[in-house]
Amino acid sequence: EGMWLLAYLDKNYKDMKAKGLKLTPKQLYDVNQACTKDAIGWFGGGCTSEIISSKGLVLTNHHCGYSAIASLSSTSDNILDNGFWAKSMNEERSAKDISLAIVQRMDDITLFITSQLKGVAEKDRASVLAKIYTRYQDSIGKGMDSMMYKNKTLQVRCFEFLKGNAYYAFVYKRFYDVRLVGTPPQSIGKFGGETDNWMWPRHTGDFSMFRIYSDSLNNPTSEFAASNKAYTPKSFLSVSMKGVKEGDFAMIMGFPGRTNRYEFAQGVKLASDDVDPVIVALRDIRLKAWKEEMNKSDDVRLKMSSTYASIANYWKFFDGESLQLKKLKVFELKSGQEVAFTKWAKGKPEYENLISDVNKAYEEYKPIALQRTFLSEGIMAPYIMQAAAAGYSLEENMKKNDMAASQKMVAAMMPGISELPMYPDIMRADKKIFAQILNKYYTTIPVSQQPALIKTILEKYQGATPLESFEKYADDMYTNSVFSNKDRTIAFLQNPVWDVIKDDIGYKHIAAFRENYNEKYKPLIDSFNMKNAALGRTYVKGMMEMNPKVNMYPDANSTIRLTYGQVQGYNDFPFMTDLDGVVAKHDQNNPEFMVPEKLLELHKNKDYGRYALKNGKLPVAFLTNNDITGGNSGSPVLDGNGHIIGLAFDGNWEAMSGNYVFDQKLKRTICVDIRYVLWNIDKLGNAPNIVDEMTLVN
Ligand code: ARG
Repeated sequence: EGMWLLAYLDKNYKDMKAKGLKLTPKQLYDVNQACTKDAIGWFGGGCTSEIISSKGLVLTNHHCGYSAIASLSSTSDNILDNGFWAKSMNEERSAKDISLAIVQRMDDITLFITSQLKGVAEKDRASVLAKIYTRYQDSIGKGMDSMMYKNKTLQVRCFEFLKGNAYYAFVYKRFYDVRLVGTPPQSIGKFGGETDNWMWPRHTGDFSMFRIYSDSLNNPTSEFAASNKAYTPKSFLSVSMKGVKEGDFAMIMGFPGRTNRYEFAQGVKLASDDVDPVIVALRDIRLKAWKEEMNKSDDVRLKMSSTYASIANYWKFFDGESLQLKKLKVFELKSGQEVAFTKWAKGKPEYENLISDVNKAYEEYKPIALQRTFLSEGIMAPYIMQAAAAGYSLEENMKKNDMAASQKMVAAMMPGISELPMYPDIMRADKKIFAQILNKYYTTIPVSQQPALIKTILEKYQGATPLESFEKYADDMYTNSVFSNKDRTIAFLQNPVWDVIKDDIGYKHIAAFRENYNEKYKPLIDSFNMKNAALGRTYVKGMMEMNPKVNMYPDANSTIRLTYGQVQGYNDFPFMTDLDGVVAKHDQNNPEFMVPEKLLELHKNKDYGRYALKNGKLPVAFLTNNDITGGNSGSPVLDGNGHIIGLAFDGNWEAMSGNYVFDQKLKRTICVDIRYVLWNIDKLGNAPNIVDEMTLVN
């Protein structure tokens, strides 16, 4: 358990060494000497990647490269389904939406920030903090290299830790010239699909490869440049051919996104009982309607695959989280901790009433908590409403006839609008989604909290059921609204005039829901969030005082961390899977479990080369007890020497409660074995040139 800050690994060193670490803390993180952290990249903002050759070759998950791979695919050049390997650097393809950031250093700025925050009222804290961050970032960044800071290849970012009890700044070099080197077909990279997602035993070859490019001085550039050369890294990871066995030391360095390990019991209960199930139900509506259209056309399937996968990933996540929070009695666990805290707090004015204040705040918040979930996951989910939202944001300007102000905003919104997938087939699905979500809102949210528009709709569009009425309303909306069609939306945005849309049915819809939310619920929700943040900060501060000897780790917040432990199975499962298991799951009639012919053939011939296990089988995936979360995807799994043995790509179903509590018995990291990665490139992908670039150690 623990996602540790790299600059303080000294505190864990004794323990790590006893478990099998052969490196020193300085070999993992150092500001002046090349070290492991120089090989780790924050990939696309939501994943991790690592450099594994002297020529900037980068390894990450298939699901991390998925959107880049999908957008480079078409029915005539279908690399998502067929796979792709560049036979030389010339064949690599620019992944223009991907950037990769490498941490240069981290600095403790707690004293500076807290002194600046002195005397600031709680309600102003967030906005003042944002200004302090900007000032600090600018002064450090410009001081280091003003040119690079200006074009964002040098970045400085401040982060809050331990709910506001500590602050650190991170300096990055960010590379924007990133190119796709290769990917297995998605029948391997996403083998098992949504069925196996978040599950063990697992048989997915979840990897893809990129390369970062730099200018003649080896510096990152702010975009693709044909004259760029492959980046020469400060350090890169060697690849272990030794393989893993249970009990072996294993550590993972990467960028975990978000955990909430110090959450209050009431927060856990709200998630498991109310919020998570609603997210699942709302996402289910979108997924079913999209799937119907994706099954009808390969073109639509390729266009929607990436969005579908990311919505489906957290649809299943929240389903599992809700289930396991209850099953593992996390509410009871947190309540018990709060009882102990309150006992300790007796006679300490700062802490004495904390938990009862928390419970009071949640009691007020609970009845309206779903308003927020419904807005982001429901009302705003249909593409028609995303288009209408652009119009809605211009309302003030339009009413004042301030065309210049509108145009400025439109210019900023246009790239997002032109990327909305508002194709006819998708809009057919969108219309169904719209009506079903509205029905779900109508049946879940108390009538007293609904905008008056709902009653008007039910009176005007009379169907046999409320759903049927909403469907008739949707017919009208998707025929007549300006926002039901991308060309019309863009034409409107190019000349945004109030008269054109003040009676538009789509516009009136979004305005009714936004106003209802903004006027009645947003102030209450903002005030709860502010109170909750302050209470959380005090709670964590109190816990540190209560247990002064405990080395407390901060929650994940997308900053670089290290987690260490061992290769380890759980329950009665094997700790490792192999290619026989892939073939056993193979199913000709199920696209989620269909593998390429060539894989079956290589399996039949046991053509595993140097990647085979001693028993003649080919390893596929294994488990460790490392502490990861979303954002760690693509992180290297390293042995005691810092050599890569695998690639972290998932968590397991039985411990989906992991963002709130680390369950020693059940929580595992699912990793793809590095030898399966190499076999896929070499034997299946026929690209030994890529393997030759790496440094393999025995
Ligand atoms: N569960 C994996 C993660 O969050 C992502 C898997 C993506 N695959 C999928 N079938 N949606 O790291």
